[in-house]
Amino acid sequence: MHILVCGGAGYIGSHAALALHRAGHRVTVLDNLSTGHAEAVRWGPLVQADLLNPESLDAAFTAEPVDAVMHFCALSLVGDSVREPYDYYRNNVTGSLNLLQAMRRHQVDKLVFSSTAAVFGHPQSDLIDEQHPTQPINPYGASKWMVERILQDAAAAYGLNSVALRYFNAAGAAPDEGIGESHQPETHLIPNVLRGLLGTGPQLKVFGDDYPTRDGTCIRDYVHVLDLADAHLRALTYLASNPGHHVFNLGNGEGFSVREVIAAAERVSGQTVPFAMESRREGDPAVLVASSERARKELGWAPSRASLDQIIGDAWAWHRAQPF
Ligand code: UFG
Repeated sequence: MHILVCGGAGYIGSHAALALHRAGHRVTVLDNLSTGHAEAVRWGPLVQADLLNPESLDAAFTAEPVDAVMHFCALSLVGDSVREPYDYYRNNVTGSLNLLQAMRRHQVDKLVFSSTAAVFGHPQSDLIDEQHPTQPINPYGASKWMVERILQDAAAAYGLNSVALRYFNAAGAAPDEGIGESHQPETHLIPNVLRGLLGTGPQLKVFGDDYPTRDGTCIRDYVHVLDLADAHLRALTYLASNPGHHVFNLGNGEGFSVREVIAAAERVSGQTVPFAMESRREGDPAVLVASSERARKELGWAPSRASLDQIIGDAWAWHRAQPF
């Protein structure tokens, strides 16, 4: 199939493009390169276009007919979204609407959408499945939830077939292929640990050790970006025989604390991670762990890189080479 990967120059999108290429699909990347990296577009041509400029999207659909779209374009910093909600709603909701309308113009009826655990808001249980209430507590999570809602309505009105994949904490890299996580600014734990070690970033700050967890630091479900990419391929196959709108939570179902992540980074690198203990970061729930039973059952998804040491080992290899 020919897949249009919107946001394919970014972290998760570039790994999905790699997985599509390895599975024998043809890939075109659409990206405005505002946060993505041209160096990460390696498995198909790049159409530099912006979802906020609807006319610019047609070029991506006309060179070769598109069979399905994967949509990763988004502003994704929770704190930023609280300060600049208009930017987040315009970019993530209006941009997605423009893409959906372009798909409709070009009669493309299959979409895999990049969603997030942030649609749930404060967790009401330690293991979060798809039945958990969706009550986002920040504009980023709300913007992703709004798009999920639009996809439900589009299934009913226009016959759009879509899968929304709600990632928990994406991590890791594909160091052999030269792609990995590079955000500016970087807010995520694992890259901040590794940048601190390499001296390419400031010393790590740990946000809070007074949470009701086993060691006082927050617990998260880290999932390898290549396992996420594999879920996207499976979602594509699923759509061929399951019309309508579907949602799946993606995580390993096991949580690790910030201190446990630091310990794993020390095992992997053989170095001590210096850090400063800070107060809590606003909006951080104590524990976020996915139940991915539905993805396992319906998509046949089985993460093959679930060990924290492997996830951090791949991220470490990429950060040391640091191609971009
Ligand atoms: N943390 C630190 N120091 C850092 C960075 C993070 O201590 O420098 C802590 C955070 O406080 C948190 C944990 O490490 O307890 C993980 O933080 P991340 O920023 O790596 O990830 P989040 O869990 O905050 O974010 C993830 C996704 C977001 C999504 C959010 C939903 O990356 O896209 O879950 O809550 F919105």
